[in-house]
Amino acid sequence: MDLSTTYLGLPLAHPLITGASPLVDHLDVVRRLEDAGAAAITMHSLFEEQITAEREATWRHIDTHEDGHAEATSYFPRSDEYQLGPDQYLEQIRRIKAAVAVPVIASLNGTTGRGWTEYATAMQQAGADALELNVYMVATDLHVAGDAIEQRVLDAARLVRAAVTIPVAVKLSPFFSSIAHLANRLDEAGVNGLVLFNRFYQPDIDIDQLDVVPHLKLSDSSELLLRLRWLAILSGRLRPSLACSGGVHTASDAVKAIMAGADAVQLVSVLLHDGPERLTSLRQELERWMTEREYDSVAQMRGSMSLGRCPDPAAFERGNYVKILQTWRPPA
Ligand SMILES: Cc1cc2nc3c(=O)[nH]c(=O)nc-3n(C[C@H](O)[C@H](O)[C@H](O)COP(=O)(O)O)c2cc1C
Repeated sequence: MDLSTTYLGLPLAHPLITGASPLVDHLDVVRRLEDAGAAAITMHSLFEEQITAEREATWRHIDTHEDGHAEATSYFPRSDEYQLGPDQYLEQIRRIKAAVAVPVIASLNGTTGRGWTEYATAMQQAGADALELNVYMVATDLHVAGDAIEQRVLDAARLVRAAVTIPVAVKLSPFFSSIAHLANRLDEAGVNGLVLFNRFYQPDIDIDQLDVVPHLKLSDSSELLLRLRWLAILSGRLRPSLACSGGVHTASDAVKAIMAGADAVQLVSVLLHDGPERLTSLRQELERWMTEREYDSVAQMRGSMSLGRCPDPAAFERGNYVKILQTWRPPA
């Protein structure tokens, strides 16, 4: 069985890789991930706010503000609450690279041109094999239009693409008006991969304490469906590799992501919940499933259910919408 794949131009033994998460903060966990068979390791993001934390007024503003209005701002992590500071992050890349043989993908969440390029370059110098740009932001400004937000993503991608020589992936959120168009422009900008999708952590309201409560709930398989649709829509139509991030908990989930068009399948919640060793059984189950169904390789399976190749493309598009709505029946 040939499980090999290529993601961001990097040859991988199989498609199962770790997604950005704090799993990489401890070297012993990173080693366990490799021992369990992770084909590549993605680090959690370094945030530009961390880089500028001590220096910049905006961050002091948050800290100061927090002192006076703790109830309103407590959902901003303080600078000392991030897992690794900028220097520690670069050092962690070096240590992970020295500890494991699989590719290491560093992740950056910048806010300024300088922040993106300086730290992308530093991550490459520290030994990262590829970069993932985490462009997570919440657009709250009433005066900033959607195309300006997309332009920021494109500008960041172009700047980083020009600053480094290693492959660059962009991890998108699903909240763009035209994901296909943005993906196409990112392709034109030379990015090597798209990660679908980041996951927005949605604060809840505590109605007794009158507080906004940050909520970090791990995913379940239901979150995969959104990813499958967009993987299927983009697969085979663009040059960048595609990674699935979100809702992969079982080998069947991984099969679906690959059939929809994923070159790599990122795992986070399942590993945080079950531990790094779950990777081993997931890989074995993937291989067993493929053997039973007489697949020879991941390449044969990849994209087989994409929009261009599946028997009923309308199921991924609007065509089925009306039909689906009509299938609902009230409980008997
Ligand atoms: C505790 C935790 C920390 C995370 N940190 C990051 C991060 O630093 N950067 C990032 O791009 N995504 C981060 N993510 C999002 C994951 O990489 C992933 O996109 C998301 O959890 C969906 O995948 P899953 O369903 O396999 O968990 C984090 C997720 C969790 C649960």
